[in-house]
Amino acid sequence: MSKKIILAIESSCDETSAAVVVNGREVLSNVIASQIDTHKKFGGVVPEVASRMHIEVIDSVVKAALEEAKVSLKDIDGIGVTYGPGLVGALLVGLQYAKGLSLGSKIPLIPVNHIQGHISANFIQHKDLKPPFVSLVVSGGHTFIVYVKGYRDFEVIGQTRDDAAGEAYDKVARALGLGYPGGPKIDKLAKEGNENAIEFPRAKFHDDTLDFSFSGVKSAVLNYLNKAKMKDVEVNKADVAASFQKAIVDVLKNNVFLTCERRGVKKIAVAGGVASNSCLRETLQNEGAKKGIEILFPAPILCTDNAAMIGSAAYYNYEEGLVSDLDINAKPNLKLGED
Ligand code: KG4
Ligand code: ZN
Repeated sequence: MSKKIILAIESSCDETSAAVVVNGREVLSNVIASQIDTHKKFGGVVPEVASRMHIEVIDSVVKAALEEAKVSLKDIDGIGVTYGPGLVGALLVGLQYAKGLSLGSKIPLIPVNHIQGHISANFIQHKDLKPPFVSLVVSGGHTFIVYVKGYRDFEVIGQTRDDAAGEAYDKVARALGLGYPGGPKIDKLAKEGNENAIEFPRAKFHDDTLDFSFSGVKSAVLNYLNKAKMKDVEVNKADVAASFQKAIVDVLKNNVFLTCERRGVKKIAVAGGVASNSCLRETLQNEGAKKGIEILFPAPILCTDNAAMIGSAAYYNYEEGLVSDLDINAKPNLKLGED
């Protein structure tokens, strides 16, 4: 197999990242400049601030990725870049930088769907992993169950109808006064609480759909906190965190295992920022052991937004001839399998 080296760029939300990846599996560098400290002050990502911060650092992030990988542009076979979904102003920074680089260096431009990138993080972590498998993509902006039939052949089985799982974590954490991003804080606090202390609702649609809804459980937590405040009763924050987390993880677990049953698949690859959650990891591993289903997770650095995962997806896109002209635009609502 000839060696293909991809330079990848990711700027869809609040991380500016560039990576060099060989044959979709081997990471030579993965540089991530996070804006979290800035957005923390606002309690969430401020889109215009994100765009402006990407533009300040993107050139040095790309240069650092090439340097760390000990390669130069003449070694690069393709430039992979996230063009959606995400915040439009943020996406445009990475896309436009990649276009300029492609134009100047005559290296082909390879468009990448951010969700495909998250799924592909598993190809980096698990060198022998091949489709088919089921993927659970859980992040701050997205919640999907995807039947991955091929490297570029996806069937979306379920998705959220309102808040993403990570978004619910962030909003509940904010209400509990834990700060942003809330997922890791709830994860930690929940370890000290009783997950059966409060019964928060689990949204259930009719049997045919494996879609999710997390706004109900989020509102239930906010109501619980408001009522306690009005009655001047002190709440046990750890119990709230643990019970909320249980409600989220229960639904994710049920739907993803039902997908395996319906499609006859024995492998689940989890992806996205929430894939770092310790309760989700433990719950899926336990259920997988009972049901004979293998559960795979990427390392935390590959769960969060990063360009290495984009480099992996770009390699498989390139292998299938997906190369873009320079008139490509950012697609903030890009669907999986639409590109
Ligand atoms: O994939 P990601 O870095 O960015 C998006 O594409 O959205 O995901 C960020 C999300 C945030 O909502 C954050 O609170 C959540 O992932 N998250 C977690 C954990 N670590 C990050 N949620 C639950 N438990 C965690 N340990
Ligand atoms: Zn993401």
